[in-house]
Amino acid sequence: MYVCMCKKVTDRQLRQAVAQGASSFGEVSRETRCSTQCGKCTCLAREIVDDALLAQ
Ligand code: FES
Repeated sequence: MYVCMCKKVTDRQLRQAVAQGASSFGEVSRETRCSTQCGKCTCLAREIVDDALLAQ
């Protein structure tokens, strides 16, 4: 599903960024561009990234 409508980023892309080595929300955001415009997706995106990091 789309998490970030501004940059068309999906939850799968966020999890993939973590799987490929991103170790923080900031890194995932830089790589995917998620949460770099209006910011409305930040809370959900952080939850998904935190969940993915915990599962590592
Ligand atoms: Fe992600 Fe706007 S929905 S920056």
